[in-house]
Amino acid sequence: MVFSPVKGGGRGGRTGFTRRAAVAAVGVAALLTAGACGSSDDGGGSGSTKVEVFTWWADGGEKAGLDGLVKQFGTDCAGQTFENGAVAGGAGANAKSVLASRLQQGTPPDTFQAHAGAELSDYILAGQVEDISADYDTWGLKQAFPQGLIDNLTVDGKIYSVPANIHRANVVWTNKKVLADAGITKDPADMAAFIADLEKVKAKGIKAPLAIGKDWTQLMLFESVLITDLGPDKFTGLWNGTTDWNDPLVTKGINDFKTLLTYTNTDRDALDWTDAEKLVMDGKAGYQLMGDWEAADLDAKKFTDYAWFTFPGNGETFQWLADSFVLPKGANNPEGTKCWLKTVGSAAGQKAFNTTKGSIPARTDAAPADYPKYQQAAMADWKSAKQVPSCAHGSACSQGWQGAANSALGAFSTKQDVAALQKALATAASQFVKK
Ligand code: GAL
Repeated sequence: MVFSPVKGGGRGGRTGFTRRAAVAAVGVAALLTAGACGSSDDGGGSGSTKVEVFTWWADGGEKAGLDGLVKQFGTDCAGQTFENGAVAGGAGANAKSVLASRLQQGTPPDTFQAHAGAELSDYILAGQVEDISADYDTWGLKQAFPQGLIDNLTVDGKIYSVPANIHRANVVWTNKKVLADAGITKDPADMAAFIADLEKVKAKGIKAPLAIGKDWTQLMLFESVLITDLGPDKFTGLWNGTTDWNDPLVTKGINDFKTLLTYTNTDRDALDWTDAEKLVMDGKAGYQLMGDWEAADLDAKKFTDYAWFTFPGNGETFQWLADSFVLPKGANNPEGTKCWLKTVGSAAGQKAFNTTKGSIPARTDAAPADYPKYQQAAMADWKSAKQVPSCAHGSACSQGWQGAANSALGAFSTKQDVAALQKALATAASQFVKK
């Protein structure tokens, strides 16, 4: 895969992929009315007017974001009914396998969330989603989204999904009281300062100052460490084949990550991100590295005593990911799905969703003043920061690669074998990188 950063990508879509998806898409797409928002009872070939929306946003801030979108859908798409197909579990840990078997059995939901970039390309290349390029023209979406994001959604010149947002992954969330009690008054500038602060919190009797959960949450922390140790360009190169996973800087990153793990909760492999977040909320930890859905979740849970900083040493790097929605091939109610997608891409839909999801709108025409404090800061950073993709959330790597990375991290959590982790990651890269 050749990865184009969101800003300044300008490649006009990926090349070198098969044309199977595009060819297979033609039949159903031709039957669809571009831009149709049904008020008729005839919601599609099946006559259904239900739109089953498949996500993993089942609770807290994630559900709040989804609820916002659903409300707007109700306004925009009279005659269509939202059906919640959410399968709980952070980062789609459970949802993705349920979805895979439904797609395989030919019983897809009417729409599902997929991460822009390599993860989305998996569905496109498997011929599981429809080309909606014509709707982009009808809905004016090519002008609404940044060109680099459009590039990440495009395969062989065609677009198959509508992005709802941009999330940032490389953020550390803190419990302000825990840090104040440890005498910490400023954000750590680098890894050494971070470790010194973790020591200070530990000295106050907090055994595991850095809260973390299972595999994918560990992959996120590890990716942040790699951004610090390799710098953003070499980090991005790990995913497009221009940086060797056997590089000594990767070894350094694994060792730094190993050091950080000594400050984390030992039950990590059994926890989801929200369990780790609870440790921060309860004052049992001072810090958690997590995507900015955490801002929305803390707000939804009415925990206000929090602050955040970019992972130490990441500088001005914004590690991005985007949730986008697709029209699966064989969906029951394509007309209703199109109306959902139109809402997702609209200014009103993006505002309804992102103000309560912690993310920022993918559209470039949003007014920062409409957003909470965290998102205002993220919007400013998005414009100025260097952008790098995330493997844990599909913008950098395919699902196969992500699975291999998660299991390598899971094994490392138990065995702490630096050489074994580096070897497993190098093997995964050689297997999955698209040249
Ligand atoms: C990500 C997704 C986010 C958020 C997060 C935690 O993969 O893009 O929107 O839901 O998982 O579940």
